[in-house]
Amino acid sequence: MRAPYRVVCRRKDYAACRIMQLLDVKKLRINQEVSQCSGAFIEKEIHMSRLFTSLALRGVTLKNRIVMSPMCQYSCVDGLADDWHFVHLGSRAIGGAALVLTEATAVSPEGRITPNDAGLWNDRQTEAFKRITDFISSAHAIPGIQLAHAGRKASTYAPGKGEGEVKPEHGGWQTWAPSAARYSPSYPLPSEMTNDDIQIVTEQFRAAAERSIRAGFKLIEIHAAHGYLLHEFLSPLSNQRTDEYGGSLDHRIRFLLEVTAAIRRVVPDAVPVIVRISSTDWTDGGWDIDQSVYLAWKLKDAGVDLIDASSGGNISHAAVPAGPGYQVPFAERIRRESGIMTGAVGFITSPEQAEQIIVTGQADVVILARALLRNPYWPLEAARQLKAEIEWPNQYLRAKI
Ligand SMILES: Cc1cc2nc3c(=O)[nH]c(=O)nc-3n(C[C@H](O)[C@H](O)[C@H](O)COP(=O)(O)O)c2cc1C
Repeated sequence: MRAPYRVVCRRKDYAACRIMQLLDVKKLRINQEVSQCSGAFIEKEIHMSRLFTSLALRGVTLKNRIVMSPMCQYSCVDGLADDWHFVHLGSRAIGGAALVLTEATAVSPEGRITPNDAGLWNDRQTEAFKRITDFISSAHAIPGIQLAHAGRKASTYAPGKGEGEVKPEHGGWQTWAPSAARYSPSYPLPSEMTNDDIQIVTEQFRAAAERSIRAGFKLIEIHAAHGYLLHEFLSPLSNQRTDEYGGSLDHRIRFLLEVTAAIRRVVPDAVPVIVRISSTDWTDGGWDIDQSVYLAWKLKDAGVDLIDASSGGNISHAAVPAGPGYQVPFAERIRRESGIMTGAVGFITSPEQAEQIIVTGQADVVILARALLRNPYWPLEAARQLKAEIEWPNQYLRAKI
C-alpha cells in the first residue's frame, strides 16, 4: 500500500525544497532520512484524502474536488446580484469549496424562472457580479457562473410569493419552448420557437458568456438540465418538432451543441466550460442515460470539460427515486463510457460519502447544494474529519484544531 508523506529537505542548500511524494508506507518512519536524497527527511505523515486533491480544468486548478452547486436565491431585483449574493457565495468560498457556482443566471429577462432571478444581460448586472467574483478569487476559490434559460418553466412566482404562472398583467411574460406544451397545468402555455428565436437565444448565451468573463468568472456552466429550455429540446417528451431541431437524437441535441459552440468561441481557451444535464427524465420514452452518454461524447468533442450529472425536472409527474447518492451512477457511467470528467450531485452529505465517490472513480468532483446551505464550512470540517492537511483562511486559523 502506498500513502503520501510530506518530505522536507533539511539540507541548507535545499532549504526551499518542500515536496510531496508518494512513498512506501512500510519502509518509512517519521524523521527517517529518505535514501534518494540525503538531507531529506520524513517530517510528518499526512493522510492524503482524495477529496482534497487538486484538479486541473484547462487553465484553472480546483484546489479540491468540492463544488458548490447552483442554487436559486430568488432575491434579485432587475436580475442584479446584491449583498445577499456577496455573503452567500463569499462564505462558501471562505468555507473551502474549490468552485463556487452562482445560481441559474438568466441570459435574458424572458429566460428567468421568476421575476426575482439573477441575470446577466446588461452592464449593471456585470458590475454587480464583479465585486463578488473578486472576493471569491481572493478567498482562493474559483468563481463559476451557471448560465440559463428557463424556457417553458419561466414566468412563474418565486417560492413564497405565489403559485404557478405570473400572468402578463402582474409582470409575467410570454414563454418560449421547443413545442407549445405546458410543463403542468399551473404553468404558462409557451409559444413554439421559430428558427429565428433559436438563433436569438443562442446569441443571448454567447453574449452572457462574454459578460461572464468581464464579470470575473473563471468557469462557465451551461444549464441544460431540470426541464429548462435546453433540456426541453433534448427530451422527446417536450420536443415534438419536425424540423432540424426535433425528431432524431442528433436533431434534438443540435441547439445545445450550437449554444456550446457559440460560448466556446468567445471564452478564452483557458476557461473551462461545463454542462449540467438531466441524465434521465425518469419517464418511459423520455431522455435517458444512453442518450446522455452519446451527448457527453458530442459535448466533449465540442470542447466541454466536465458533465455535471443531475436528473429529472422535465416531466411534472415523474417518480424520482431520490435518496443518498442516487444520481452518482449517472456520473460514473458517463465518465466511464464517454471519457469526459464528471461531477456527481444529489444527496451527497457526508465527507466519507464524498471521499468514496472520488476514490472509486465514480466522478471527478462532488457537487453539493443543501449540505453547503446548512453549513458553508462543510469543506473545512470535512478536511478535519478526513485528516486532510489543507490551508485555512488566516483569519480563522485559531479554529483549525
Ligand atoms: C434552494 C435551491 C435552489 C436550487 N437552484 C438551482 C439552480 O439555480 N440551478 C440548478 O441547476 N439547480 C438548482 N438546484 C438544485 C441543486 O443544485 C442540486 O442539484 C440539488 O439540490 C441536489 O443536490 P443536494 O442534494 O446536494 O441538495 C437548487 C436546489 C436548491 C435546494
